[in-house]
Amino acid sequence: MPVPDVSGRSIEELISLKGRSAVVTGAAWGLGKATARRLAEAGAAVLIADIDEEAATATAKELADRYSVDVSAAHLDAADVASITAIADLAENWFGKIDIWVNNAGIPSFSPLLDLDVEEFDNVLAINLRGAFVGAREAARRMIAKGQGGTIVNVASLAGVMGISEGQAAYCSSKHGVVGLTKQLAIELGSQGIRVLGVAPGFSLTEKTMFIADWDEETVKSCPIPGIGASRLGRVGVADDIARAILFCASDMAMFMTGSTLLLDGGIAA
Ligand SMILES: NC(=O)c1ccc[n+]([C@@H]2O[C@H](COP(=O)([O-])OP(=O)(O)OC[C@H]3O[C@@H](n4cnc5c(N)ncnc54)[C@H](O)[C@@H]3O)[C@@H](O)[C@H]2O)c1
Repeated sequence: MPVPDVSGRSIEELISLKGRSAVVTGAAWGLGKATARRLAEAGAAVLIADIDEEAATATAKELADRYSVDVSAAHLDAADVASITAIADLAENWFGKIDIWVNNAGIPSFSPLLDLDVEEFDNVLAINLRGAFVGAREAARRMIAKGQGGTIVNVASLAGVMGISEGQAAYCSSKHGVVGLTKQLAIELGSQGIRVLGVAPGFSLTEKTMFIADWDEETVKSCPIPGIGASRLGRVGVADDIARAILFCASDMAMFMTGSTLLLDGGIAA
């Protein structure tokens, strides 16, 4: 494979996603929504695929109006293999190709081990890990069939690289799986020009998580994740911290990166 010389390209050109199309799962709310926003701002056409179709449609409209790019929405249940395949078909039909696929849809789980039943464990794995595997497979199949290359970004978690607090057995297992999947797919897909990267957020404020704690000034400063500790940067993470990193991974700025998962935890794991 020839070594591309991009030293003559500007930063704006390298970060631009003009002419590319992206699928972001679970992008009606939270980190996925912030990611869809940054990808659209960078010029990509975006399909927002989410189980909450009403919110997905509202988010798509908001972003299409704001950035004058093609942003569409469709129903996805990441626990359902056929639903993921249907989204990949839809994206290919609408955009002609899929350049970027972000496996973001995920659910938490809080049951301590002794209360964690197999159904809950399986459901968390089905959405967080199997959903990412099927999404990556369907994206890769289509990228390879078109001979075009592409980028897959998996949203893992700090709980994908270390154990967290009590009650995280299912979630932690699923996210460690996502980090492993990212490494393995990078090995399998690199020769096809497909890069596979992960991001591992620490606790990040979203529309939903901002209500689970009393975010007074002191709490935000110390950003305490039970059993782990505080961000080293004196503030809590926010959705856009994660979205900017995903944009970087998806863009040509990261053209020599594959297989790694970026820690976006404000230094907690340091
Ligand atoms: N926010 C954090 O602190 C944090 C930290 C580490 C990792 N993460 C990961 O980031 C991702 C996004 O988390 P978030 O905090 O934005 O969550 P969120 O709950 O705010 O958003 C999740 C989105 O996924 C959608 N969704 C849920 N189940 C789905 C399904 N079965 N199929 C399709 N869509 C579905 C929801 O409707 C929502 O739009 C998840 O994978 C999560 O594990 C979040």
